[in-house]
Amino acid sequence: MAHSLTRSTAVVARVVGQQCATVSIRAGSWWTNVPMGPPDAILGVTEAFKRDSDPKKINLGVGAYRDDNGKPFVLSSVTEAERQIMQENMDHEYAGIAGVPEFCNKAIELALGEDSEVIKEKRNATVQSLSGTGALRIGAAFFAKFFPGNKEVYFPQPTWGNHIPIFNHSGIQHKFYRYYDPKTVGFDFKGACEDLSKIPQKSIILLHACAHNPTGIDPKKEEWQELSEIIKKNGHFPFFDMAYQGFASGHVDNDAFAVRHFIKEGHPIVLAQSFAKNMGLYGERAGTFSVIASSKEEADRTMSQLKILIRPMYSNPPVHGARIVQKILSQPDLKKKWLQEVKLMADRIISMRTALKTALEKEGSTKNWSHITDQIGMFCYTGMTPEQVERLTKEFHVYLTKDGRISMAGVTSKNVGHLAHGMHQVTK
Ligand SMILES: Cc1ncc(COP(=O)(O)O)c(C=O)c1O
Repeated sequence: MAHSLTRSTAVVARVVGQQCATVSIRAGSWWTNVPMGPPDAILGVTEAFKRDSDPKKINLGVGAYRDDNGKPFVLSSVTEAERQIMQENMDHEYAGIAGVPEFCNKAIELALGEDSEVIKEKRNATVQSLSGTGALRIGAAFFAKFFPGNKEVYFPQPTWGNHIPIFNHSGIQHKFYRYYDPKTVGFDFKGACEDLSKIPQKSIILLHACAHNPTGIDPKKEEWQELSEIIKKNGHFPFFDMAYQGFASGHVDNDAFAVRHFIKEGHPIVLAQSFAKNMGLYGERAGTFSVIASSKEEADRTMSQLKILIRPMYSNPPVHGARIVQKILSQPDLKKKWLQEVKLMADRIISMRTALKTALEKEGSTKNWSHITDQIGMFCYTGMTPEQVERLTKEFHVYLTKDGRISMAGVTSKNVGHLAHGMHQVTK
C-alpha cells in the first residue's frame, strides 16, 4: 500500500513537473527578448556589503538615517502617533484620490510656513503622493500634459540618479546646468548662473530645496536670491524637490528658505515633499505634490487634473504614513517633540562631519577636507575618484557609490576612525 502510494505520488509529481516545464517554456518564450538589466547602483552597494564578512565593514551607500550604533532610528514622536492611531481603532477605508486632506494641509503648511499667504488664499493644489519619488512622478506627468513652456527639465549636474528616469518615463527629456565644481568640491555658482541665463527661456528648472543629493552642497542665501532673479528674468519654471526639510540644518524653517523666498518673489513654483527622512517614515511612503497657482480658481482646476492623472496610476495613496504625519503636525506637543528629534538627527550628522575631518587630520592627511564640514545634509561628496573608491572598498571594506558619495548617516563614533584611516590611505 505504502509502496503503491509512493509510486502514484511519483507519477503525479512527474506529470505536474512536465506540465510545469511546458508552462515555463511557454511563458519564457514570450520574453526571450527581455535583456538582463543592470542592478540599481545604490542597492548594488548594499548587496555587496551584505556579502562581506569582515567585522570592520561599513555601508555608506544607503540614504537612510542610522543612530550612533548604526541602527535604524524610530522616532518617539512617530511611536506616539502610532499609539494614538491604534487606540482610535481607525478603519481601513480608501482615502480619496488626493489622499488624506488634513495630512495635505499640514504638510504644505510645514513647507510654506503657518502665515503663508498662498495657504490663506487657497492657491495651493496639494495631493498626497507615494513619498518624494511619487510626488516627482505626478509632477512630471502633469508637466508632460500641461506645461505650456519648453518641455525640457534642467537638472543640476550631478543630481539624484532617479530624477532622470522619473522625468523621462513621463515623456520629459532632461539636460543639465552646471552645479558642482570639482576644483573646489563646492557650488559652481558662476557656472549655474551662466547656464540658467543661456538655456531656452521658459524651461523647467529642478532645484533641490536643501541638502542637495548627492553633493551635500547648497547655495548660500544670497546665491538663492540671485538664482531666483535669473530664473525669473528668463521666464523659467522652478520645480522644487524638498526631500530633506529639517534634515540639513536641524530647523524646518531654515531649510525651507529657498522655497519660501521663491514664492515671496512671485514665482509660480511646484513642490515635491517627502517625510521619509525627516520623520524616518521611509517605507510608509508619505509625501505630497503641490502646485502653487495664481488664484484659487486656478488651483481648483489644477487639482481636478491632478486627480485625473493619479486615478489610473494607483487610484489612491496608502493612509497609515499620512495619518502619522498628520497626528504629529497637528498636535503642538507632539510637533515640538518631533522638531527636537529632527534636530537630534541633523546634529548627529553634523557632529560626524567634524569627527571625520578631525580623524583624517589625526591620520596625518594634509589634504584640505573642509568641504566635509562645509557640506550639509545626509550626504558628503568626498571628491574621491572611482579608483580610490574601489581601493577603499577592496582594502578597507567601506562600501559607497563610485562617485565618492558617502552617507554621513552611516558614520558613527565607533567606525569613524577606521573610515578616516582608509580614506587617508587611498588619497595620500
Ligand atoms: C533628492 C531626492 N529627492 C527625492 C527623494 C525621494 O525619496 P522618497 O521617495 O523615499 O521620499 C530622495 C531620496 O533619496 C532624494 O534624495
